[in-house]
Amino acid sequence: MNAPLNLSPRQLLQQRLQDAQTATPHVTVNPQSAHIGALIGGVDLRQPLTAAEVNTIRSALLQWKVVFFREQHLSHEQHVAFSSQFGELTIGHPVFGHVDGHPELYSIAKYRRANSYGSEPERRPWTGWHTDVTAAVNPPAGSILRGVTIPPYGGDTQWTNLVAAYEALSEQLKAFLNTLRGEHRFSPPAGANPTAEYLELIQQNTLVSQHPLITLHPETGEKILFISPGFLKSISGLHTRESRVLLELLWEHAVRSEFTVRFKWEPGSIAFWDNRSTAHVAPQDIFDLEFDRQLYRSTLVGTVPVGADGRTSISVQGNPVLAAHGAAF
Ligand SMILES: [Fe+2]
Repeated sequence: MNAPLNLSPRQLLQQRLQDAQTATPHVTVNPQSAHIGALIGGVDLRQPLTAAEVNTIRSALLQWKVVFFREQHLSHEQHVAFSSQFGELTIGHPVFGHVDGHPELYSIAKYRRANSYGSEPERRPWTGWHTDVTAAVNPPAGSILRGVTIPPYGGDTQWTNLVAAYEALSEQLKAFLNTLRGEHRFSPPAGANPTAEYLELIQQNTLVSQHPLITLHPETGEKILFISPGFLKSISGLHTRESRVLLELLWEHAVRSEFTVRFKWEPGSIAFWDNRSTAHVAPQDIFDLEFDRQLYRSTLVGTVPVGADGRTSISVQGNPVLAAHGAAF
């Protein structure tokens, strides 16, 4: 038998998934684009999974960065039970709270507090491309989003693979980015007109962290262009204009269409993404439609990122995002 010598991280992930699938031939994994997204079938998420099924789903997640399921009509309790098989769950949201009676779940409604501007048409959200909660020193490892009320058209979510984005950069730029760190914080974008309630919430729960621009994936060893556009406000050590222009370049690069996948929701759809190596964008078109849209999210407790240069992230303000059962609320 030949040892898998000199395999790249991607080849190791492919090998791991192949081995996992051998043990679970009833579970299907169908890629949805060249670099990101796979549709998983053959499992009933209302039931406890076998260890082999958990391994196949985790292996598919590590390779494809976001995995999708259809026709999984879970209750809140089943959503929490499914998620818990992949790690400890955080409180619903460190700033915006949780679903009453379900501390692990965050409600993603069409008009939610995280987006609150107040009156129409200012209720339009400002949420663009982002990685969840990167203002925390330990952003969630993964997020599990469940669709309940879904418009007949519109409201698709897109994800992008930040490993593929990193790998497509020039070697010269990679080397420069390896030396840099950025400041991530919760704050409304320039020009927003947030409500008093929103401002009070983020002032009471201010989260600011410094993360490396290039992080190492703690499970796969892959290098990641860790540049959550919604939260990353500046690059430390650069002049304001240098920082702004470089971030614009990186954000534009990171969401090139070939690194992305677009998912059309149905009631009972679930998207489970690796929050360490992806960014996603909340759909804006639902605000041009009268349909309602309601999803629920759980998130897995994450570790403090480590940069490609070996330095870890630093908390500037606020607390790490801990497990729901150890949280104050
Ligand atoms: Fe998000």
